[in-house]
Amino acid sequence: MPASERSGVRLAWTGKERALAPAPGGPPSRVLRAPGGAFFHGDNLRSLEQLAGELEGGVTLAYLDPPFLSGRAYEAIVKDKSVPRSGPLKARPKRFAFDDRWESRAAYLEALGQRLVLISHLLAPHGSVVVHVDTKTSHYVKVLGDEIFGDDAFVSEIVWRYRRWPSKTPNYQRVHDVMLRWRKDPSVPPRFNQAYEPLAASTLATWGTTKQRAVVEKDGRRSRSSRTSEPTKGVPLGDVWDIGVIAPVARERTGYPSQKPEALLERLISTLTDEGDVVLDPYAGSGTTLAVAARLGRRFVGCDQSDVSLETTQARLRALGQDLAPERLRRPAPPAYARSASST
Ligand SMILES: C[S@@+](CC[C@H](N)C(=O)[O-])C[C@H]1O[C@@H](n2cnc3c(N)ncnc32)[C@H](O)[C@@H]1O
Repeated sequence: MPASERSGVRLAWTGKERALAPAPGGPPSRVLRAPGGAFFHGDNLRSLEQLAGELEGGVTLAYLDPPFLSGRAYEAIVKDKSVPRSGPLKARPKRFAFDDRWESRAAYLEALGQRLVLISHLLAPHGSVVVHVDTKTSHYVKVLGDEIFGDDAFVSEIVWRYRRWPSKTPNYQRVHDVMLRWRKDPSVPPRFNQAYEPLAASTLATWGTTKQRAVVEKDGRRSRSSRTSEPTKGVPLGDVWDIGVIAPVARERTGYPSQKPEALLERLISTLTDEGDVVLDPYAGSGTTLAVAARLGRRFVGCDQSDVSLETTQARLRALGQDLAPERLRRPAPPAYARSASST
């Protein structure tokens, strides 16, 4: 049964039919390749269509960090050694990076839906897709994703909690983003490497650093826990992640707007993929996903239409020994009559 029929609730909006039946067009994206992966420079709708030929069913993790419907255009801060990094942000040279202005929320959902449909064909049966959004769109994207992947394929809403410069507004300060995850095929065991987080201080005080074992009564009731001598790994990782935003002077900061911390991608990639798996990021930006995937021994594929994104990603990957170079056009095989003539 198609995913759209498995999901009981539908979102209706103008343009929805176009979102669920993408029709890519326009010029093909320029492809650059490195030993461990590739970058498609151009509109990702076209790039994803190009990828269908080589990667159908081969992606273990697709991570999407699309623009958030903020209604703004974004600039990247250009690294220029003659301008001190400690000086005011306004004084530093900038370049246009990407535009996040949309006609309407419907237009935004239409664009995202089209990409998600193409991505669903690229995912491996044990793979998953993670869409990084904020509270402005998360509820719409959840229903859209349920319709494309099936609501039984939805597996997690991860809250990324960060600390930011405090500002007083007559509201609770927004200190989290949301990452929605669907599996490609809920009937197949997912790729998932269990991770652990430290025990709570109260647990440590009572139980120390060894495992507890549940004591279960004859009637199946859990009555208490008993101490063991085995050291504990901690508690299985939950879905609220406290990870700091990138500090202004951090080495990983590239100047690209909306750059995500490597620690966040490290957690996603290490838990949802194995070495050698393919990680796809269709909104590559500064190349965080690609750089982390390369560092962790995964294969990477990124797409972005921004020139600054390509340059920033290239520099990051080069530092990891992954030089992205334009793909040489393959010489077409000579026609059969020419091959038989040359062999005589
Ligand atoms: C929020 S940024 C991604 C930031 C990234 N996660 C990082 O850590 O640097 C979104 C990116 O999506 C790209 N983008 C938006 N629409 C696109 C499209 N239709 N095709 C290709 N890239 C697109 C923008 O150029 C921008 O670089």
